[in-house]
Amino acid sequence: MVTIPKNIPYKTYLKEEEMPKTWYNVRADMAKKGIDINPLLNPGTMQPVTLDELSHIFCYELSKQELDNTNQFIEIPKTVLDFYRMYRPAPLVRAYCLEKLLDTPAHIYYKFEGNNTSGSHKLNSAIAQAYYAKEQGITNITTETGAGQWGTALSMACGYFGLDLTVYMVRCSAQQKPQRKTIMETYGAKVIESPSETTNVGKAMLAASPDNYTGSLGTAISEAVEVAVTQPNTRYQLGSVLNQVLLHQTIIGAESKAALEEYDEYPDEIIGCIGGGSNFGGLIGVFMKDKLEGKANPHFIAVEPESCPSVTKGEFRYDFCDTGKVTPLAEMYTLGYDFMPAPTHAGGLRYHGMSPIISKLYKEGYIDEARAVNQVDVFAAAEQFCRSEGILPAPESSHAIKAAIDEALKCKETVESKVILFGLTGTGYFDLYAYDKFNKGILANS
Ligand SMILES: Cc1ncc(COP(=O)(O)O)c(C=O)c1O
Repeated sequence: MVTIPKNIPYKTYLKEEEMPKTWYNVRADMAKKGIDINPLLNPGTMQPVTLDELSHIFCYELSKQELDNTNQFIEIPKTVLDFYRMYRPAPLVRAYCLEKLLDTPAHIYYKFEGNNTSGSHKLNSAIAQAYYAKEQGITNITTETGAGQWGTALSMACGYFGLDLTVYMVRCSAQQKPQRKTIMETYGAKVIESPSETTNVGKAMLAASPDNYTGSLGTAISEAVEVAVTQPNTRYQLGSVLNQVLLHQTIIGAESKAALEEYDEYPDEIIGCIGGGSNFGGLIGVFMKDKLEGKANPHFIAVEPESCPSVTKGEFRYDFCDTGKVTPLAEMYTLGYDFMPAPTHAGGLRYHGMSPIISKLYKEGYIDEARAVNQVDVFAAAEQFCRSEGILPAPESSHAIKAAIDEALKCKETVESKVILFGLTGTGYFDLYAYDKFNKGILANS
């Protein structure tokens, strides 16, 4: 049995008044160093997308945030802060029990973002996006969801503000996790399996492959955007990839940094899973500020699935953000807009591209490492984690756990007490089908 020291906290909750009041915009500091993100391109003209063009897809304020490369900090609106107070500050936990299990001298910390009904960090951006829509007088929102966490988060946010939400859910995830649909409907959303017959893009996909179409995030995005730009008073919202989403998620890193100060620690390594890059971008945000300013040099590790290796095997170039080619082009690491990942159980990591911010920081060497891990090893890490730390992790988050365990074991070899911080982005209660397969030894590797 592990004894948790009495003089050091097992987990740290900041006080509500200590919660950050601003989001951190890393692009401002990147620009100061000449690390500029190339603009989104309008696929029709191949010219940079204008604020006016973008605000036909997204709400006006969010479009402004998307294009803002200069303001370092952006104030969190009071209504959003008040909502955050219902489930934040999120705990920072010292994983003593995992450390003991691994017999490592490393100090492992995780920032737990799963303590809200959506079960993940996605609510941090969902509530902000729904707020700006409401402020603008928008009545209808469309979105896509892979794993279901983003769809649930946006359903909660739209339910809170009384907005009408349609969610295109990637078919294989919908079939793996039918209860996700029920939660979203309970919050008032309409859920449609993607590809569907409700859009031109969906019809074309189904016509091309009627019997065997598991869907992908790229396709679901196309469907949601198509509806948003063709229906009145409707805007599209996305739970990852975009600059605005990474911006909202910086609350994760800002809280982590403040909580680590209470332990008198600073991370040597910061690890996160990457689907479209939002939790990782949010976790590393203020630490990247330190790195860009030359104040500290934490080692950043981004972890992705071997089955969808957009950063480790993709190319850095302009590509569509969706499969149906209806979105602007972004410069990023990509496997190609038509890449169709295997129907693995980390639905939130099955995206062909990567956040332009993460892509650029990796390309320029500010993100030190990207690592691809396989599904069975990820579930084995999840098992070690839940049996020692108690929390059942989401398969997506377990990619970060796997890398954190590997790093902690290296510390055991080298006898180093490195401080390792990783993002525990969510819980795995809706992933029991996958856990069941793993328990029975029949989970495929990709
Ligand atoms: C629990 C969880 N973690 C991580 C991710 C990956 O998304 P992102 O890279 O945007 O953080 C998802 C996406 O759905 C998720 O649900």
